[in-house]
Amino acid sequence: MLVLGIESSCDDTAAAVWDDGTVRSNVVSSQADLHEEYGGVVPELASRNHQRLIVPVVQRALAEADADARALDAIAGTYGPGLPGSLLVGLSFAKALAQGLDVPLIGVNHLEGHVYSVDLGPERPARPFLCLIVSGGHTELMHVGDDFQHDVLGRTRDDAAGEAFDKMAQLFGLGYPGGPDIDRHAESGAPTFHDFPRSRLDEHLDDLCASVRAAVVDVLVDAVRRAVEATGVGHVAVVGGVAANSALRRRMKALGRDEGVDVSVPDLAYCMDNAAMIAQAGARRLAAGHASPPTLDVHPSLQL
Ligand code: KG4
Ligand code: ZN
Repeated sequence: MLVLGIESSCDDTAAAVWDDGTVRSNVVSSQADLHEEYGGVVPELASRNHQRLIVPVVQRALAEADADARALDAIAGTYGPGLPGSLLVGLSFAKALAQGLDVPLIGVNHLEGHVYSVDLGPERPARPFLCLIVSGGHTELMHVGDDFQHDVLGRTRDDAAGEAFDKMAQLFGLGYPGGPDIDRHAESGAPTFHDFPRSRLDEHLDDLCASVRAAVVDVLVDAVRRAVEATGVGHVAVVGGVAANSALRRRMKALGRDEGVDVSVPDLAYCMDNAAMIAQAGARRLAAGHASPPTLDVHPSLQL
């Protein structure tokens, strides 16, 4: 079963080919440079650039997979949550391609894509598992059972973890997105440095980054620890862009050792937004007999 996945929910234009359990290609064209001067994603610019990039990105995904479009069995496309204009570009393209090739269209919830991204490797968790989704738009803790059975145990009432990193990075004069920059600086900073003296930002940049990172990571790890203790579930996954954070990865592995639970984190390429996770989730839905009507519309505030 050869499935093309298309992802365009925010500022990454992505396409991937999934072939019965194998990622044959995974192409992501990031627009981060374009949005950097504005300190965040400008929706109108993002959708216009998705339009410019969608055809070359899909063509590259097919070429790298050595696949002909006519060999595709289905097209999976993200239909929410995300920016309406951005979602529209990828989903409209997915619909048109599915109709043109006369194959099923599978609308995929971006968050479901992130949840199952942990199965892309290297450590597929057993079921059930607790899943911490941490990205630019979401911080949610879920209980994941059999396919498509997920219950939300809790979610942030405030900014998502990635958004918090991005806002602090902007305050510190770092680039966009800020999570990776904070993470890098934090590696050589003191996490116990809590005073935020603006006038000495440059001098203490590493310490400030380390302090911010420690605060965010503490909250996340503590929430997972409490969920593990409350539910007795023995497997935990951490997914989404912030799952690329080196301190979060280390602390979650340490939590696994302390609590005697397995902790799985996807490879970095599958933490950030990508289409392999969309193709895989779509293939799963297809195997379960699900398909979407050609009238499927985007759902900017879709939840799991
Ligand atoms: O999952 P993702 O690529 O897109 C969304 O669905 O939101 O996550 C993007 C977020 C951004 O906020 C970015 O700053 C954050 O993930 N991020 C990180 C790291 N790498 C990316 N945050 C902390 N540490 C990192 N190493
Ligand atoms: Zn995402």
